[in-house]
Amino acid sequence: MKVAIASDHGGVNLRKEIMNLMDELGIEYEDFGCEGTGSVDYPDYALPVAERVASGEFDRGILICGTGIGMSIAANKVKGIRCALVHDVFSAKATRQHNDTNVLAMGERVIGPGLAREIAQAWLTTEFEGGRHQRRVIKITDIEGKYR
Ligand code: RB5
Repeated sequence: MKVAIASDHGGVNLRKEIMNLMDELGIEYEDFGCEGTGSVDYPDYALPVAERVASGEFDRGILICGTGIGMSIAANKVKGIRCALVHDVFSAKATRQHNDTNVLAMGERVIGPGLAREIAQAWLTTEFEGGRHQRRVIKITDIEGKYR
């Protein structure tokens, strides 16, 4: 699995934590910034990750900002992206099993690093269940076709 990861200035510390986790798990990833801790605009970092996941260049994306909200909104504008903003382990597993989410968003100002690591690990290692959930995901994709 190849993961694209990025954050804005509000998510720098948590991004490093999650990159350490992926090193420990032996998961391949590429870091798309941001550099340093100066103020930047989260859509500028959500877009490169979302585009690379949508194109198939990367299997999954992880986006972190202060709340995770801006990153998730921006990522979900890209056709083919199903980004979930997650701050608990149950939802991390469920959104993989039921929604086949391909991007995970988290907020560094919302949860601590220990929980964020558990969420990321659960999300990265849980498979999509398919079946009735596949039908629903297809209906989400159909909505994209209707408006673009
Ligand atoms: C930046 O201050 C902050 O707005 C951003 O990290 C994020 O929380 C936006 O949704």
